[in-house]
Amino acid sequence: MVLVTGGAGYIGSHTIVLLIEACYEVVIFDNFSNSSRESIYRVEKLVNQKIDLVEGDIRNGDDLQKVFDSYKIDSVIHFAGLKAVGESVEKPLKYYDNNVNGTRVLCEVMRENGCKSIVFSSSATVYGDPHTVPILENFPLSATNPYGRSKLFVEEILRDLYLSDNEWKIVLLRYFNPVGAHESGTIGEDPNGIPNNLMPFIAQTAVGKRESLSVFGDDYDTPDGTGVRDYIHVVDLADAHVKALDNINSFDEVMSINIGTGNGYSVLDMVKAFEEASLKKVPYVIAKRRAGDIASCYANPSYAKEVLGWEATHSIKEMCEDTWRWQSNNPNGY
Ligand code: NAD
Ligand code: UFG
Repeated sequence: MVLVTGGAGYIGSHTIVLLIEACYEVVIFDNFSNSSRESIYRVEKLVNQKIDLVEGDIRNGDDLQKVFDSYKIDSVIHFAGLKAVGESVEKPLKYYDNNVNGTRVLCEVMRENGCKSIVFSSSATVYGDPHTVPILENFPLSATNPYGRSKLFVEEILRDLYLSDNEWKIVLLRYFNPVGAHESGTIGEDPNGIPNNLMPFIAQTAVGKRESLSVFGDDYDTPDGTGVRDYIHVVDLADAHVKALDNINSFDEVMSINIGTGNGYSVLDMVKAFEEASLKKVPYVIAKRRAGDIASCYANPSYAKEVLGWEATHSIKEMCEDTWRWQSNNPNGY
């Protein structure tokens, strides 16, 4: 059985669908601090079965022990975490407690129960401001904000854990920019309040919830001056987790793996692709650069293909069409 922490969230819910389709048995553990039960009900409809759920907090060892008492857990996919970069600057202790301490408690409970297999949600943010692109896994690591540092610290903790006991099987998946939604249009990204990320902001502008998009800077050293990122369809990302689990027992070192498409698209590329997919106008204004942003960030994803047999298959058109289906069917989210 696979324990999926944060399984009610955006990436977790999509991964649950693919895990069940691949015949894995799953139990979700979530405190619903950034999600709702509705996402799980909708996943249940998609896969046509009930999904086991334990409500609790990863920082609470007793909550976690309940899961290990009730189920035979073989491995953990660990999505639970806070992810708002701006909030992490305002409230760093909240991020270190939830993301770093939470992971420490989780690993402790896993160890006590003889479960030593974990796939961790890391991020391209651990590369800081890369010297060159595309980014390879052996590039230097750094962080520019508390959220990024929480990911980097957890990576380090997991590497130390492996050094102390190499029975651990650890996969660090470094996601680039997850976007899109399940093609059914019934589950997707449902940010609280005003979205920080580009894709949900564009989608909410297209559906009429926001007046216009602010493009944060048009004077970067990129083809059109706007920031370039590696957008990856959330279903491709979910599939990378299934492949990580399929292969995890064959690894005899901590695996750090980029999960991206290898293609960089600018903010204006994304606006255009979204307008084409939605047949809606996305009004925008050029605004000043956002503090902490970098010009270009995209992966060299060849290691994922080599060690997981995984590569992204969804195009930017599908990312926009699926986001639009989710957004237009669910203008107010779940
Ligand atoms: P999300 O907020 O939709 O999902 C996270 C889930 O974890 C939520 O359901 C939340 O309620 C739960 N959670 C948070 N703290 C918890 C705690 N202490 N105990 C139990 N449950 C808790 O976010 P997401 O986009 O699905 O991201 C999943 C993971 O991937 C996160 O760790 C995030 O940092 C990482 N990641 C996300 C992105 C991105 O852009 N979405 C990029 C790189 C990495
Ligand atoms: N952007 C805008 N306007 C907006 C929002 C974003 O122009 O309203 C631009 C940004 O300046 C950037 C691009 O769109 O050039 C993408 O921005 P996002 O906020 O969507 O994504 P980031 O690349 O800044 O950050 C994301 C996650 C981080 C993660 C990082 C690397 O939010 O958590 O990818 O994985 F660390």
